[in-house]
Amino acid sequence: MGSHDGHIEYMKDPWKGLAVYWASCKPFYKPSLKEMGFFEKPLKEFLEYTPNPKVLLFGATPEFRDLLGKYRLDVTMVDINPEAVKEMDSLATVKNPNEKLAVKNWLELDFPDENFDIICADSTQDNLPFETHADFFRNIYRMLKEDGLFFFASVYKNPSLSITPRQIVERYKENPAYYEDFQNRIHDLFVLGTSQFFDKEKHYFKFSDVNKAMHAEIRAQGLPPEAETLLTFDAREEGYIQVHSTLADFEEQMSGLFEELDSYVDNSHHALSNMKIAKLLRKI
Ligand SMILES: C[S@@+](CC[C@H](N)C(=O)[O-])C[C@H]1O[C@@H](n2cnc3c(N)ncnc32)[C@H](O)[C@@H]1O
Repeated sequence: MGSHDGHIEYMKDPWKGLAVYWASCKPFYKPSLKEMGFFEKPLKEFLEYTPNPKVLLFGATPEFRDLLGKYRLDVTMVDINPEAVKEMDSLATVKNPNEKLAVKNWLELDFPDENFDIICADSTQDNLPFETHADFFRNIYRMLKEDGLFFFASVYKNPSLSITPRQIVERYKENPAYYEDFQNRIHDLFVLGTSQFFDKEKHYFKFSDVNKAMHAEIRAQGLPPEAETLLTFDAREEGYIQVHSTLADFEEQMSGLFEELDSYVDNSHHALSNMKIAKLLRKI
């Protein structure tokens, strides 16, 4: 039994029965099509000299499965929860005959050294305890071939942003429709979580702490019931723990392992431009 099993065991559950909800979610909960476009360009160039690459995909991100499936690539999805993957199957629009699932814990991946040409990960490490992230990236380095590519994307903690429950309620009272936009809502709730409820030692915030504070403010200000759903995280994800790294954390955890060939920020919404990044990396 590893010391993190409690956290890992816990993180398995939130994903059961989520496909319907996941379909209604927008980036940064899932990669944006522009981010996929950013990865497709180097992928096509890579295929010119490595036509049948072996690809490792963390989780079952439908957007990545569609991109990799488009080229019928040999894809190994790795996920601890086959049910969650089955859920996500319904959201992948491209059926890839060369796709297979390895049911494994991301912290215990024992694929051989230099086994994959391409490794893809979208908001993966934020499901893992912060203190395991450096090992997580070191293991990706070990599994990636010398001239391989690492497609990394993640939401990140932006220390320059701050908001309070009262400010969110004031913004709602000014324009109740503002928070009907999913991305406006997750942006401000994530900023509330990181600026007011962040556990500096464990580098995470709990959705439940954010919801508790918002429910209290909503009731204190006597707002209508619909505000309860518009100004809180969905009940289906209330148990979620968001481990949240800064860009500097990624730099530190990847230093000596990967060099950045390119990076991309989707500016189509401030929820992305303020706290989501995509990076094209290769081994140093
Ligand atoms: C937010 S997604 C993160 C990964 C990726 N963005 C995706 O869409 O699959 C959650 C998925 O990660 C899986 N997961 C969470 N923690 C894991 C772990 N320690 N090992 C393997 N899979 C894990 C869950 O089962 C779920 O399918």
